[in-house]
Amino acid sequence: RKGNATKEQIRLHNLVQQLPRAIIIGVRKGGTRALLEMLNLHPAVVKASQEIHFFDNDKNYARGIDWYRGKMPFSLPHQITIEKSPAYFITEEVPERIFKMNSSIKLLIIVREPTTRAVSDYTQVLEGKERKNKTYHKFENLAIDANTCEVNTKYKAVRTSIYTKHLERWLKYFPVEQFHIVDGDRLITDPLPELQLVERFLNLPSRISQYNLYFNATRGFYCLRFNIVFNKCLAGSKGRIHPEVDASVVTKLQKFFHPFNQKFYQITGRTFNWP
Ligand code: A3P
Repeated sequence: RKGNATKEQIRLHNLVQQLPRAIIIGVRKGGTRALLEMLNLHPAVVKASQEIHFFDNDKNYARGIDWYRGKMPFSLPHQITIEKSPAYFITEEVPERIFKMNSSIKLLIIVREPTTRAVSDYTQVLEGKERKNKTYHKFENLAIDANTCEVNTKYKAVRTSIYTKHLERWLKYFPVEQFHIVDGDRLITDPLPELQLVERFLNLPSRISQYNLYFNATRGFYCLRFNIVFNKCLAGSKGRIHPEVDASVVTKLQKFFHPFNQKFYQITGRTFNWP
């Protein structure tokens, strides 16, 4: 198992804690956990298990870069460390801060069809409220402004799905070649081709294979096979059942996102079959 190195292993193998050479910066509910875990199947990839929230949290950021490095797993010098904190994508200060750490870092963004992502985002918040026995608004009432009957652009789950707006802020610091867009909808249905594109983007030899990914019909998702004895599925909180959303609201949102999606395709050079 990778990850928890003993003192003996650290000394014997010259293990080191390295700053990430690639970061999954978002998008929340895009499949960021699945992407990180699946990339970790690669022998040259080591993951930071927790979301570090170094660049988006002022208190953490003030602790300095050595604190951040100290949060990284031990790895061999040739391995690359990856972390994921989906809040990075939408937080104002983050691009500049990452640029200051490493201006040639590789940035991964995993996206899903924007309306689906917004509903997924809502579902996660709803579950949190229900856990505390609190009631919560219906998605329709949050996503649509009651006075104007237009899409409520103040609602965070809507704003996060306007991918181009956020990406444009990042592009003030990093050239577009330093980003790789992962299709989160395809990562669900057919992960291997998406992972192979990431391997290429990271200049890694192709090592993740169909052997490492098996469809689990009970979970309804692909799970991970590291080797003959070790396999795992993601936690049950990944792959929630979404509430049914009024069809007219879905259409309204899809129409709203459409021009932003076009811009996103244009900038990234990656086109999706979003409505
Ligand atoms: P849903 O809960 O809406 O289905 P994140 O890790 O960024 O929070 O993303 C969570 C989403 O990852 C889930 O959204 C789920 O659809 C998706 N996902 C992709 N591949 C998955 C996998 N192999 N197992 C579980 N969830 C996966």
